[in-house]
Amino acid sequence: MHKFFYDKLYEHPWLKGFFEGIDQKVIEDQQTDFMTSNMGGGKVYSGGFPKNVHRHMFIPNELFDIRGKVLRESLQECGVSKELIERWLKIDGAFRHSIVKSDISQCEKQYKTDEIVNIPKPPGF
Ligand code: HEM
Repeated sequence: MHKFFYDKLYEHPWLKGFFEGIDQKVIEDQQTDFMTSNMGGGKVYSGGFPKNVHRHMFIPNELFDIRGKVLRESLQECGVSKELIERWLKIDGAFRHSIVKSDISQCEKQYKTDEIVNIPKPPGF
């Protein structure tokens, strides 16, 4: 399912900018482990907290909603049941407040080498 989802994100006119230079397979596996842990499948995820991982990315509410739509579509297309889709999106949405920022000034570098990531909405999108 995450291969499907990230194929879409890596092709999306706005979202793809965030994933430039990032290995798709690695992020798919991290996301799978993350959701497994969050859905009660035991502690398999070993990555960072979403708040830290996305600290330097300017992600406005609108973009979070767009990603949510792509996620819903991917789950539907993979034949996931309605109940599970709702449960999944609820868990995913619970991270909105720790990822979304209303202004670029709220972005912080986690590591010295981090760049603040600000991908403007493509014109006409
Ligand atoms: C529009 C919204 C989002 C964007 C643009 C985005 C973008 C990214 C990017 C670019 C990375 C790779 C970071 C790196 O390797 O340096 C990443 C990692 C990750 N994201 Fe997101 N993300 C979004 C929302 C979410 C949400 C809602 C969740 C959880 C529910 C999430 C969970 C993760 C996880 C678990 C990782 C892997 C962290 C690690 O390897 O330590 N992301 N995200």
